Amino acid sequence: MKLPVIDLSPYLEISAKPSENSLNLGHQLDPQLKSLCAEVSRTLRETGALLVKDPRCSAEDNDRFIDMMEKYFERPQEFKRLQERPHLHYQVGVTPEGVEVPRSFVDEEMKEKLSAMPKEFQPSTPMGPDPKWRYMWRVGPRPSNTRFQELNSEPVIPEGFPEWKDTMDSWGYKMIAAIEAVAEMAAIGFGLPKDAFISLMKQGPHLLAPTGSDLRRYGQESTVFAGYHYDLNFLTIHGRSRFPGLNIWLRNGQKMEVKVPVGCLLIQTGKQIEWLTAGDCIAGMHEVVVTNRTVDAITLALQENRSLWRVSSTLFAHIASDAVLQPLGHFAESPLASKYPPICAGEFVEQELAVINLKGNKGEP
Ligand SMILES: [Fe+2]
Repeated sequence: MKLPVIDLSPYLEISAKPSENSLNLGHQLDPQLKSLCAEVSRTLRETGALLVKDPRCSAEDNDRFIDMMEKYFERPQEFKRLQERPHLHYQVGVTPEGVEVPRSFVDEEMKEKLSAMPKEFQPSTPMGPDPKWRYMWRVGPRPSNTRFQELNSEPVIPEGFPEWKDTMDSWGYKMIAAIEAVAEMAAIGFGLPKDAFISLMKQGPHLLAPTGSDLRRYGQESTVFAGYHYDLNFLTIHGRSRFPGLNIWLRNGQKMEVKVPVGCLLIQTGKQIEWLTAGDCIAGMHEVVVTNRTVDAITLALQENRSLWRVSSTLFAHIASDAVLQPLGHFAESPLASKYPPICAGEFVEQELAVINLKGNKGEP
């Protein structure tokens, strides 16, 4: 099975027309657009992932972001540690390798499920915390009045990177714009009002959180960079990485290696969309592992004298902390709805992070 690539252009063209109200009336929607929206929701449901092409976000935008992050991660440890804020629970700035713990390493229930999986679909077993660095950069406005005040921490900008703020913000806003289009299309596809999801995302604690993995030190096949886990946010998005290695699990339990075409973005479902759809769309399980394709990419990068840091350009889009997570619209009538009782998104995030020992960190396992 191959993930389809959804071109967002036709949808964006229609939704940009001020006189166009057909998007609010699902039944009047152009049949072709309607079937595109249905493909979005069906793919998210069956695979937990989606490849999209957004005309507002080019391969060059992704390159500019990755180039800067490679340059940053290549700096010596002593330099990067200046951007570390452990007393702020790593909510901003850099998280060094060896701090994030994969859920499959600590969650006993998950461990049992894994051992029951057919051998060929079982994830790689992490031997400890993830050997990847991460940088946390908040994107977008936050509410002035909230029950879930983020710590009052200034964004961290490393010295010698004058382009930092612009590059981070520009990539972050582009990623949020792409997620919003997908969230509208998915809502239509799921038979909900088009703004069912995005109205809950306003002022959410969205986080740009690129990772950096040093393939020079950890480039051996089977090394686990991110152990099997789901994301606790709403939807996660990234551009194409220069080194492959992401595996996802489809709804039917099959494991699949993801190949992101040049110029495309990859979206993955998180736990919050599972909650809002009463499990109709479940959080996608995934891992990042050094595979034989990663090793081939390392060989090529060495020949071309390119960086051996594997950078992901990840953004975690969240439901606003004060909004209530609960099955929306017709999903409230689902027989599984009772498994998803109402809970404030902020409280939900705190509960999830307590399990994985990263309380205060608005990211993912
Ligand atoms: Fe993840």
